Parts: sequence; C-alpha cells; structure tokens
Amino acid sequence: MTELQLQELLSEMSLGEKIEQMIQFHGGFYGDVKLITGPGHDYSVKPDQQWRIGTVLGEAGYEHLKKLQEGFMEKQPHHIPAIFMSDVIHGYRTIYPVPLGQGASFDPELTRELAEATAKEASAAGLHVTFSPMCDLSRDARWGRCMEGTGEDPWLNARFAEAMVSGYQGDGIDKQGNIAACVKHFAAYGAATAGRDYSGVELCERTLLEDYLPSYEAAVKAGAPLVMSAFNTINRIPCSTNQWLMRKILRERMGFDGVVISDYGAVQETVVHTSSYDKKDAAAKALRAGLDIDMMSDCYLSYLEEQAKESEELRRLIDESCLRVLELKNRLGLFDDPVRGSKELEEKYFYCDAHKELSVRAARESAILLKNEGLLPLAKECRITVVGKLATSTKIVGSWAIFAESDKTVTFGEAVKCRYPEAKVEVYPYDTADEKMLAACKRSDAVIVCMGEEDEKSGESKSISDVSLCREHQMLFDAVYGVNEKILSLIYAGRPLAIPMLAEKSEAILDAWYPGTFGNIGIWELIFGDANPCGRVPMSFPYTTGQLPMSYSAFTTGRPVEDRNGFVPFASNYMDVPNTALYPFGWGLSYSTFEYSSVVLSHDTLTEDGKITATVTVTNKGTMDGKEPVQLYIRDVKGSVIRPCRELKGLQKPFVKAGETVTVSFDITTELLRFYNEDMEFVAEPGEFKVWIGGSSLTKNEAEFRLA
Ligand code: NOJ
Repeated sequence: MTELQLQELLSEMSLGEKIEQMIQFHGGFYGDVKLITGPGHDYSVKPDQQWRIGTVLGEAGYEHLKKLQEGFMEKQPHHIPAIFMSDVIHGYRTIYPVPLGQGASFDPELTRELAEATAKEASAAGLHVTFSPMCDLSRDARWGRCMEGTGEDPWLNARFAEAMVSGYQGDGIDKQGNIAACVKHFAAYGAATAGRDYSGVELCERTLLEDYLPSYEAAVKAGAPLVMSAFNTINRIPCSTNQWLMRKILRERMGFDGVVISDYGAVQETVVHTSSYDKKDAAAKALRAGLDIDMMSDCYLSYLEEQAKESEELRRLIDESCLRVLELKNRLGLFDDPVRGSKELEEKYFYCDAHKELSVRAARESAILLKNEGLLPLAKECRITVVGKLATSTKIVGSWAIFAESDKTVTFGEAVKCRYPEAKVEVYPYDTADEKMLAACKRSDAVIVCMGEEDEKSGESKSISDVSLCREHQMLFDAVYGVNEKILSLIYAGRPLAIPMLAEKSEAILDAWYPGTFGNIGIWELIFGDANPCGRVPMSFPYTTGQLPMSYSAFTTGRPVEDRNGFVPFASNYMDVPNTALYPFGWGLSYSTFEYSSVVLSHDTLTEDGKITATVTVTNKGTMDGKEPVQLYIRDVKGSVIRPCRELKGLQKPFVKAGETVTVSFDITTELLRFYNEDMEFVAEPGEFKVWIGGSSLTKNEAEFRLA
C-alpha cells in the first residue's frame, strides 16, 4: 500500500478499532482457535475482539498461524492481518549457543549467520517478528538475563546488535526467509540494581548514554523497525511511560521512527511501580511517551477510548501510533501476503544439515578455554571418564528456546558416541561421587567433570545472590581431585560463574555456555583437538560475587591500585580479593601461541578529520591453525571528566595458519574518541591517548598518539 492508502485506511477506522491495533495478546487467548482463554477473561476482552487486535505473541507453526491469520482477516472489519511475534533469540528449532556464548565468539559475522539461519526456520513457521536482539549491556552475573545479551562491552555489544538485525532482516522484512527484529529492552535493563530482575536502574546520564545506549542505537541504525520498552525505571520513571527516554532519546536523538511495544504487562506495572495513579493514567502516560503497542495488559484496550473521546491530543496520538502499526504491517508485506511459511519450508529448514553444521561450528567458536596446563587437547586413544549430571542433560540449550524439541538435543555423552565412536569414554552422570565412579576416574588418563547450572537456572527471573559454583559441584570436583588430578572442568552456564577453586586446581577449564542442539559435538572436537579454541571472555569472571558489578573498563579513582601484589591500605581495593577479574574481558586460550609485534602507528598526531592506522603483525607460533581475536583498546589519558582505563574500540578475528604471520590494521578516527564532556557535549578532546593491540584486555602492547 502507499502511504496515502494507509492514511485512508486509518481514516475509515473507528477509534476502538485503532486502539485494538495497538494491542498484543498472548497466543493463549486463542486456545482452540475460537475461545478466549486464560488471561482474556481478566482483561474483559469481548468475544470477537480477540480477532481484531493488531498483534499476537508467542505462537508459531505454519498451519497454526495460517488458521489464526484467516480468523483475523475474516473478522477484523477492514480485514487487517495480524503480526505474529515471538522470542526466537538463538534459534527456532535448531538452537545455537545462547547470546552470551555468541558474545564469547568475538565474531559478530558468525552471529549474523546464526540470525540468518534462525530467520529461515522462524519464517518457515509463519513468524513475522522476533523479540531480539536483546541489547542490554550487563556487568552483573547475578542477573539471570545476562545470558540473553552479548556481554559487558558497549562497543562489542553494538557490533553484535547490528549483526543480529542484519542477519534476521536480510534483504527485506517483507521477504519469505527473513523476520523483523525488535530491539529490547529499552533501556538499560541489564543495570538492574543488585542484579535482581525487574528492579530499578540507577545510572548517571553519562553512563547511560556512553555505555548502555550504543548497542540499542546500533540496532536501530541497522534498520530494526521495532523497539521494546523495558520493565525497569530510568531516572525513577518506568521506561514504558518515560517520555524523555522514548521521545527525546529514542525517537528524536536516535531517529527511530518505527513501532515501540511495551514488555509483557509493563504498562499496567507502572501502576504497581506507583508512578501511574491507575490503569487509565498508565494508558495515557504510555501513549504520551510514544508507546504504540501495549503487550499483555488491558490499559490501552479498556482505558484509552473513553478518555480519548474527551481529548483531541490523545486521539491524535492514537492516530500516530495506529498508523505506525499499519506502516509496519505494510513494510512486512502483510497486506499482499499475510501468511508466511509453508509445510515444505518447515521440512526443508528445521534441523537441516547446514543449520546443524552451524550449530556445531558456533559452539566451537563460543567455548572459552580459560585454563590449560597442557592437558588439552586429549589424545583420541586415551581413557576418559566423564562425570556429572550435566553430561547427559538436555538442559544445555538455554532459555527462550521455546520452540526447541528437547529430544533433539545431543547431550555431551551422546555427542562423543556420534562424533568419536571409537573413543574410550565412560560416563557417570551423577553429581555425587561413589566408589565405582571414583575407581573409573582413578584408572583414567583424564577426567572431565561437567559442572555449572542447568539451563533453567538462568534467564528471566533467574537472578541469584551468589554466583559461585554450587556446593554439590565443588564436592564432586574435590572427590575426583582426590583420586586423579588430570581434570578438565567443563562448565555449562548462562553466566560467568565465580570459580577460583577450579582455576587453582583444574588442569584445564573449558566454558561451553549453553551450546545448543548439536553444540556438544563441537565441544568434543575442541577436546580432541580437531578444532582450536578461539572464544574470549565477553563478561568478566569474578573471583567472588562481592566484586559485582564489574568490568574491565573501569574508571580510575583518586587512590588507584595498579598491578596489585597484595592488599594496599588506604587505596581503592578489597582486603580479600583483587579489584580485577579472575578471567577478564577478552581473555581466552588457544592450542597455539600467537605472538604480537609492537604496535606501529602511521602518525603520532591525529587531526579532527584525519585518521591514524595502528598496525601489528600476529604470528601463530604453534603447530595448529587457529583464529585469534585481535583487540584494539584505547585510553584517553586526561579529560574534562574521568575516562575509563581502557575501552575496546576495534576487533578482528583472523585465521592464522600454523607458523604464518598476518598483518592486522585498525583505523583510529575521532569518532572512536568521543564522549560526553563536562557540558554533556559529545566530543573528542585534544590531548594524549594510549592504544593497545593484543589478545585480551590485559595486553600491555602499547603505543601513544596525540589528538591535535
Ligand atoms: C518478557 C520478556 O522480558 C521479554 O524479553 C520478552 O520478549 C517478552 N516477555 C515476550 O515474551
């Protein structure tokens, strides 16, 4: 349709119909595709109203959605089709590593491929929109949802966010095989106080703008047509009714002109937050803040029409929001082709070889070799005992895999049988050691102890106050250690756990995150050396929960400690643990050693419009080919406001053959140096800068330049 036709359609719609377009209900309302079930009664939805709302959440499957869409097309007075949205955040049927694991790949291009494959399956199943990417920067492992994001770094999160949008949306959201992205949760949900889900967010404006917003902005700039407002408050105002956040920052400053949808029930929650007087007030506030779709609350449905009849301003805002929803439907091509997918496409893409291969590859690239004292890779003929319940668990795909089929998940124990049928592996899938298990461990060349958390322990509402390894797994490890010290600690988790004991005693530690449907095959390929680990820490591993929140990109203080060697009295440090992480951002080992040359800068002075090229050579000194995430960090030595000790500003992940050398260059422009100065202007300030290029945030490979 043309814009004019959309305007005409809008002008023919009643006020009630317009508001209905601004509602999203859960698929549970469509029980047997006829009845209003469950929460529908609480929301006093009229019998045929469920067929006139604009969008539906959480349903998928070609046949099912086709039937639903036919219902909408028949019963909506203007035959307006519905949009089907769902959470498909790391795969639809074939599940890939959780987003935090993808963050650990340090490879946004891989994530683009995963999003593209996800879109193929989801679109085959009739979906139009996914509630992804989750761009919430997170520095607190207590927060259960850190698993849904790509980690602690603003620059890296932004690269992953745009990669996901581009992968989902491909060559257009109106095309079969692609789905539209919905950026969430706007904004700064990952900064939930004390890591407790749904709690408030207390951030200074500079931190919000510089650290938390870049990833959302990158996703918006990459063309995502929807944004979801977060549950939390910003400046003590819930995001869904926050005019400053949504109108000033999102729409005006970031230039977003698409649809804003609330999170689940978030509009009515503003009443419970106590910043809205009642649901009527909440509805008006959300609309004024620019929120177009009310997901799963009846604030818009039941409380907007009456007040809008009395208010020209609200009627104008309803027109604007409804038009945005219609425009989105038009961009999705729904007026021409309301039903996505087909039976054939579902059969073609679900678990197809290409997606299976991708799932294995992604798991290989996401796993981080945190420690290795020469135990890995294991020789294929050695005798291995695998212990721990996680070894045979299918709960290693991660949350929001809502359309996954758990019987398709290849467990760690099964993966070795299908990939290495000759391997001498005995599996004891118990978290409590017994004599038989310990006897097997004793006579083995190596023991793999599977530890961490099953995937239901992380995700929404899965915050914890202590991120250390659970007692049961500590005891399991100790029992094995008592009979055989050749231990590979294999971690499955949705967060960086505090594992100082494992770091001290294990010979090797491999963090597999939640690797997805076929990912365990890739984990065995790493263990046996058919692949070379190349994952890096996307979110600091603390020594202890008490260090949280934390990030490598910290600020200096008036009493800093550098390279601490024991406690420093009256300086800013803890008496019991260092300030720094056990495994910091960017850290990760390979079976090869990569040697860096010194950093060579093309110039020692940067001008406002100029650029400096920073170059290193990287040599693979090992005997295995491998990939090395080459990281560029920058520090503004002095500023009108304090600046982080270092910030990631560039990344490349070259493949370097054994014995070969590659040259890696980064362009540095003033664009990378900007921040909010004393007067809240986004500028680069003249002065001295440090640059580091290396294989982790600890690198000391340094050079300096000046900004004129
Ligand atoms: C609540 C979650 O916070 C959000 O991430 C998700 O997209 C919606 N529910 C819809 O399922």
